[in-house]
Amino acid sequence: MISGYKMDPARYKFEIAHAENNFRDETSTHLHIDKALIKKMFDLNHKNVLDFGCGSGGMSLWYAKHWDCEVTGFDIDRSYIFLANELQAKLKIPNATFSQRNIIETPLNENEKFDFIFLNDVAEHIELSILQDIFNQLKKALNKNGKIFVTYPPWRSPHASHVTHVTKIPWCQYLPKKLLIRLIEKDNRELGGEIENTLLEAYHGLNHLTHEKMAKVATEANLKISFRNSHSMLNRVPVLNKLKHMTPFNFLITKEFLLLE
Ligand SMILES: C[S@@+](CC[C@H](N)C(=O)[O-])C[C@H]1O[C@@H](n2cnc3c(N)ncnc32)[C@H](O)[C@@H]1O
Repeated sequence: MISGYKMDPARYKFEIAHAENNFRDETSTHLHIDKALIKKMFDLNHKNVLDFGCGSGGMSLWYAKHWDCEVTGFDIDRSYIFLANELQAKLKIPNATFSQRNIIETPLNENEKFDFIFLNDVAEHIELSILQDIFNQLKKALNKNGKIFVTYPPWRSPHASHVTHVTKIPWCQYLPKKLLIRLIEKDNRELGGEIENTLLEAYHGLNHLTHEKMAKVATEANLKISFRNSHSMLNRVPVLNKLKHMTPFNFLITKEFLLLE
């Protein structure tokens, strides 16, 4: 529990509604393909699940509700853990525990072992050398046959600037930096986090993640990619779909899904 934490009431209402939507909505949030793939690929019953970078807990509680499993949610930002605890109390889902945790400062210990570790839209927000340290730890925290499922929008994708909803310009990450910053500042918005509190701060926190960079992190952590699904705008055009990893078609990949073992 995050005792004594206070949030502005309007922000609280907005963030809880957003978190609840991530929990309930199977079709329209940024997590809809994640949910469809997870349902198809995994049986989480009787498993120990870690939702790393759980944010306000919508996905963690979705795992806990749909399977008879134990879910741990870690996030570095206490504001999100506060929200996750509030959402859990509202939904009355008992089999999840949320903790504010920076595993670089407080590494995972030998009793913290998991069968499944999920990182939904987290890896692109963490500086690469820190991401490497995190994956080294996560690999060691896997039980036998344990798996890590990582999803992220790759940097080249139309929305990977994470600000196209304000600039209204797909691929705006390739605009001259000064112009892009000016566009974000014009409509800069507050976010639910304490660490990255505005859209501009969140933009600056992005690590420009590509499949090549993510694969390198995985390999150095001694993890193998056993499954890759690249969701592309070309998926609707079966003839061209085979080209989706080639330049310039790779700029049409909107999300990467990787299973690491
Ligand atoms: C875009 S949010 C995704 C939240 C959630 N997984 C979801 O899909 O709704 C990214 C989250 O990663 C968290 N995060 C960033 N760096 C982290 C770190 N080093 N350790 C744990 N969490 C981190 C942020 O605080 C934020 O909640």
